[in-house]
Amino acid sequence: MEAGMPKRKEPGKSLRIKVISMGNAEVGKSCIIKRYCEKRFVPKYLATIGIDYGVTKVYIKDREIKVNIFDMAGHPFFYEVRNEFYKDTQGVILVYDVSQKDSFEALDSWLAEMKQELGPHGNMDNIIFTVCANKIDCTKHRCVDESEGRLWAESRGFLYFETSAQTGEGINEMFQMFYSAIVDFCENGGKRPGTNVSISFTKEQADNIRRIRNSKDSWDMLGVKPGATRDEVNKAYRKLAVLLHPDKCMAPGSEDAFKAVVNARTALLKNIK
Ligand code: GTP
Ligand code: MG
Repeated sequence: MEAGMPKRKEPGKSLRIKVISMGNAEVGKSCIIKRYCEKRFVPKYLATIGIDYGVTKVYIKDREIKVNIFDMAGHPFFYEVRNEFYKDTQGVILVYDVSQKDSFEALDSWLAEMKQELGPHGNMDNIIFTVCANKIDCTKHRCVDESEGRLWAESRGFLYFETSAQTGEGINEMFQMFYSAIVDFCENGGKRPGTNVSISFTKEQADNIRRIRNSKDSWDMLGVKPGATRDEVNKAYRKLAVLLHPDKCMAPGSEDAFKAVVNARTALLKNIK
């Protein structure tokens, strides 16, 4: 059996899996798990100290799944406690708070922490990741929009859900799809299911959309140095326009990125002799 694959008694019988939660402190990891397991929400923040552990039984396609959930503390202080819990994991619930940009930007560093702890022989391709864009009830303070989150998740082959532990929105659906994906993965003998996540765009497209969103001015948007010539601007524009044209690029946010690139070019050419 491949390292990291769950233990299974007989085909079609009960399956035991290990799932962990990851993400910055206070993004709502414990509340998401509590909402699903206990159908309740606690508004008061009770920071997880190190790790919380729980076992739950779920049924997916008539199959009993015993889920061991390790709910990790997001605070950097607990790094030493967290690091030994990454191994032998089949599923990761990666959470950020849509009203805290830094919690979204921290997702890469959570993946990096996990990768580092799994070591050179650890294989993250064996793991199903689901991303929760949490606290969507906080509409007034939302600063990471759906297309940005979805792009980050889907460009990595991860599931993506908009959730609110407070209202319960998206929570059952997320767990159902997440556990189904893990079961499919196990039944496929460790091959990623080609089902729910169909990636119809390239990493280059996704990276450029993200770069364009975060760019500080029109030069930056086109990826040229301030003071570039008309030719350089046009060349950079053409490359991006071909890459991101909405007729060819299915990535979330491609339309906005394409428009932004058109506008950036127009603005720059106005001022270049
Ligand atoms: P650590 O254990 O410190 O890593 O934090 P955590 O990610 O487990 O966060 P926790 O679930 O404890 O929630 C943090 C705070 O956010 C609490 O005050 C929750 O009530 C609140 N919270 C969690 N989910 C939601 C949500 O969907 N909407 C709103 N409005 N608040 C939420
Ligand atoms: Mg917690």
